[in-house]
Amino acid sequence: MSTCTLSRRGSEAPASPIRALAEVARDAANRGITVHGLNIGQPDIPTPPQMLQAYRDFHDEVLAYAPSDGFPDLREALAAWYTNGGGVHRPIEADDIVVTTGGSEALLFAIACVADPGDEILVCEPYYTNYWGFSHMLGVEVAPVTLSADDGFKVHPDRIEAAITGKTRALVLPTPGNPTGTVLTADELARIAAICAERDIFFICDEVYRDFVYDMPAGTRAASLLDQPIADEYAIIIDSVSKRYSACGARMGWLVTRNSEVREAALRFGQARLSPATVDQHAVKAALSTPESWFREVNAEYQSRRNTLVEGLRGIGLDVPMPEGAFYLAIPLPVDDAEAFCHWLVSEFQLDGETVCLAPLNGFYRTEGLGCNEVRMAYCVKEEVLRSCVRILDAAIKAWKIR
Ligand SMILES: Cc1ncc(COP(=O)(O)O)c(C=O)c1O
Repeated sequence: MSTCTLSRRGSEAPASPIRALAEVARDAANRGITVHGLNIGQPDIPTPPQMLQAYRDFHDEVLAYAPSDGFPDLREALAAWYTNGGGVHRPIEADDIVVTTGGSEALLFAIACVADPGDEILVCEPYYTNYWGFSHMLGVEVAPVTLSADDGFKVHPDRIEAAITGKTRALVLPTPGNPTGTVLTADELARIAAICAERDIFFICDEVYRDFVYDMPAGTRAASLLDQPIADEYAIIIDSVSKRYSACGARMGWLVTRNSEVREAALRFGQARLSPATVDQHAVKAALSTPESWFREVNAEYQSRRNTLVEGLRGIGLDVPMPEGAFYLAIPLPVDDAEAFCHWLVSEFQLDGETVCLAPLNGFYRTEGLGCNEVRMAYCVKEEVLRSCVRILDAAIKAWKIR
């Protein structure tokens, strides 16, 4: 018997609640059941053709390392894209950007840059689960400010301020939010940025869903922390191509900060992993020329899906807030244990050979006991599938009650 043991960091690392049901879903599919996967935010929108073409056009004879902070021409193109795209209070420079392996690595680097083991980062729960996953990996604790489904998961700046303690090193907040869909207004962002500056903590603003805001004039994007002059030294922006260009498999993201010390620390982490992927960086550069019309169509599609799902769920008697952005819906269900319900839904329930895979929301909270009756649905599937999912859910809730 081996005496080798895992680190506590390894053995206690939280498993992804988003992917937790994957195996059960595979078993159901093997039994011939059609499983509609609303548990994961994998867009089905085709990736822009010019991005895909850039992969085909890569003909280098050696697949070489890239610079640790990304190719200069990509960082220049990104800087121009931010500066020309609006929503920045002064131009972004190529040197403000460190290219990473997805927004995920940008998040990991950002938290590692600002917090030591034993420190805390402030998050709003329900949160994107990797905020806790990455913090745990780094020995950093997350301190949650709890949002409520009752007011549509609104973020209250004063509650954030009240939760800051001597241990808080940063606030990590997405806008638009995953799993809540909450979008911060420019005023709310300004208020929160001012609080972070006054209280001397970093504001790591996760803007990977910035393009997806609804019920707004076409072309509107969510307000960015890059537009808040007060936050310059405190602001770290997380960004990615995964959702923007429906390109999750590219594993390309970056962080933007005008704080040179943060950038230098992030670059040292970047040097340790040598470089972000080479070919994908060429593809990202090509993706930046995606026309505005593409985004308009994609946004209209997501908005229509959101409406279909919300109306459908309200039609079966559920109390559903209308999310303003991203492509998720976090809702309470009339079940006592959403985790058990989601497992049963995939492992035992079916309606005419179909079922739905949902993400139970308890894993999106740090506070024990919260989210027990809540689930997240990603509306990354076509409207007719969403309508089927509502029908299946309606039947499943009734069957769960009398089982
Ligand atoms: C809020 C949020 N931030 C960051 C990420 C990381 O995305 P990626 O690593 O694919 O860029 C995700 C992915 O789902 C997310 O939902």
